[in-house]
Order: sequence, then C-alpha cells, then structure tokens
Amino acid sequence: MTDKVVLAYSGGLDTSVGLKWLQTENKVDVITVTVDVGQNEDLKDISRLAKSIGSRKHYSIDSKDEFARDYISPSIKANGLYQGVYPLATALSRPLIALKLVDVAHKEKANMVAHGCTGKGNDQIRFDTTIKCLDPNLKIIAPVREWNLSRDEEEKYAKKHGIGIKSKQSNYSIDQNIWGRSIEGGEIYDTEKEPPQDIFEWTTPLEKTLDNPGYIKIGFENGLPMSIDGTDMELVQIIKHLNYFAGIHGVGVIDHIEDRVIGIKSRELYECPAAVCIIESHSDLEKLVLTRHELSFKTMVDTQWAWLVYSGLWIEPLRNDLQSFIESTQRKVTGEVTLKLYKGGMRVVGRSSPISLYSEKLATYDSWSTFDQKDAEGFINLWSLPSRQAMGSSRKAERTPSQKKLSRPKKLIVRDKGV
Ligand code: ARG
Repeated sequence: MTDKVVLAYSGGLDTSVGLKWLQTENKVDVITVTVDVGQNEDLKDISRLAKSIGSRKHYSIDSKDEFARDYISPSIKANGLYQGVYPLATALSRPLIALKLVDVAHKEKANMVAHGCTGKGNDQIRFDTTIKCLDPNLKIIAPVREWNLSRDEEEKYAKKHGIGIKSKQSNYSIDQNIWGRSIEGGEIYDTEKEPPQDIFEWTTPLEKTLDNPGYIKIGFENGLPMSIDGTDMELVQIIKHLNYFAGIHGVGVIDHIEDRVIGIKSRELYECPAAVCIIESHSDLEKLVLTRHELSFKTMVDTQWAWLVYSGLWIEPLRNDLQSFIESTQRKVTGEVTLKLYKGGMRVVGRSSPISLYSEKLATYDSWSTFDQKDAEGFINLWSLPSRQAMGSSRKAERTPSQKKLSRPKKLIVRDKGV
C-alpha cells in the first residue's frame, strides 16, 4: 500500500514547495485540502494549481460560517486579543483547518497529514497540537520545517521544478481570513521602518481617507453582534461590512512587536478593521452591563483565554472551562454601541442597553441625584480601616526600641556584647 498524505494547501509558496517535495522526495500520494475561512481567493485557481503540481485529489471546503460560529464568536465574547492588540485571526483558523485535515485523512484512509509551516512560527504548534489530540496515530509531516528551508531556497526550489506560484506572491508571508490579514517578513522585519503602503489591502492610507467621520451602530445580543445601524445581519455579513466600512476610514492597522510562543520577538502587521471595531464595542458594552467584580475577573479570564488560543491550545480543556464562565457572563451583554471612525482612529461615542447598570440618578452631580453623600463618610471609615491599622502599627514599630534592636544587622549585636 502506498502511503497517502493529506496536505493543507493554500496555493502559496510554502505549501506548493511542500506538495512537490512530498511527491518527488518522499514518493507519496498527496491529497490537497484548501479550507475556505474567507481568505477571498479563487478556490478554482488554487485547485488547478494543486493539480498541476501533482495533487491526486483536491478538496475545497467552505468553512466560513463554521469559522464565524465556532471560532470567531467565542473570541468576540472573550474580547480575544493577544498581548492586548492582536485579534488572533490566524490563530483562530488553525484548529479548524487541522480538524478538516483530520476529517479528510479519515475519509481517504490516509496515514499522514502535512502542512507548510516553518519551524519558527506559531502555526506549526497550532496544527500539530490539534492533530495530535484528534488522532495520535496520524503521522505529521512539515516539509519546510524538516528540510529547514529558507524562503529564498524555497523560491529556488519552486523555480527549478517549474512551480507557478500565485502572481500575488511577494517577499511577505501573508495569511488572511474574514477576521483579519496577517503580514510577516520582508521589509517590515526592520522594526524602525514605517511599513510600506503596498502591503496593505483592506485599509485606505490615512492620507486618502474620507474627510468626514463615519458613524456606525453595532447591536449586540447575548455577547454577539446581530445588527448594523438597526438592520439584522448574519455575523459573516456584519464582519464583511465592517471590514469595508472601517477599512475606508483607515481603521484596523496594527503594528505589533509580538512574542511568539517559541521565544522569538517578531514584528507583525495586521489589518483587522472589523475585529477591532467589534471587540472595542463589545468590551465597552460589557462595562455597562457587568458588575465591577465580574469585569475584573473576566479581564483575567479573557487574557488567559487569548493566550491559550494564541499558543495552539484551542483544544485544551481549560479553554472550554474558561469558555463556560465567559458564556455565563454574556447573557447580559445586549445593547447598542455607536462608533465614530475618522482618519485611522476609532472611538466609542455612545452605548445603551435595556439592562444597563448605569444610573444617571446616582451618577449626576445635580440636585435630583438619589445618592446620599453623607453615606460616603462612614463607608470611607470602613474602607480605609485595614490601611489605617497598618500605617498605625508601622509608626508604632519605628518608635519601639526593642523593635529597633531586632532589626539591627547581626554583627552590630555581636559588638554590643563586647566580643
Ligand atoms: N503572528 C500571527 C500568529 O501567530 C500571524 C501568523 C501569520 N502566519 C503566516 N503564515 N503569515 O497568529
């Protein structure tokens, strides 16, 4: 029986080289799989390319809705941002692609799966961890990592074997899906340099954005966006609309010095117009409807959740446990948030909720306030009690001679004894 391998194929340089390598150097039958998570590429072209390089059979799997429902939605509820800024676009797609690879491997009775990840990034961790958890018997092959190929060596190999790569190929390594576009490599590795304008595709350069601000109202129900400016829409439509609307205002560019799991610091550029608008609005709305105790605890949970997802542990039980807590808080996250977008800036300018905890009657400084200021005095007496006690006792310690003696260095005590 010949070995059969199922390769995650994007049509890019890494996976095209991988496909050829598996076939010629490893002499295995290669089945290719492209999972559509909204990368907005011509799937037919990709399929043709795969076949022309030597794929025996190609699968194009439309997973946009599944991606939005099962991966982006939980991330919105968790305000999913790695290191406070990166909306995890690439990180969220990897466990889904791994799942589809394993499904196809089972269907095709293949004994191996493969991906085009290098040994320097996070994606290899996400793929391998998910695959190993789903089916420990599948052998994983990562040609670029195994062969330790650099990008220019890959290019040479592709040329030598007449591999026609997509015309859009450039110096950069780009990954995109509906939640965002991740750009690595090339000139942007110089941390000092402003990123060249031509790497951006979803956002208008600031110099060319509209001269009037744009306003948009996002409606949430149970933690998820459900409408734009009062019109109900599917999540995928909302994301597409916001990618366009915020993109034309230059909103959504993230220039980030990022700590990769394997320990390397790297400069990454992202374009995530919809993700930044949705997460900003969602976390703002949470402030209106959750108590301060819920909010401060949830911030820790959200940070941990994002770290697990970033570091390839989507499948780890703790992520599910945290998700249960997050889900329970989201029953209250219903309301509307208005954003103002202008020349690359985005700001929440209004929010409302039928179950808001905000009370103007309590907050106002006007005479109609129902808050009795006299209550504050007693409250502060008790609130400050532990700190006052502690201050009092440290003042006492400074004044007590025996305490002073105890705190002297040892050799002084020895000299006191006349030794
Ligand atoms: N640094 C991001 C992450 O780890 C983006 C990775 C982009 N991957 C790529 N093949 N260009 O999620």
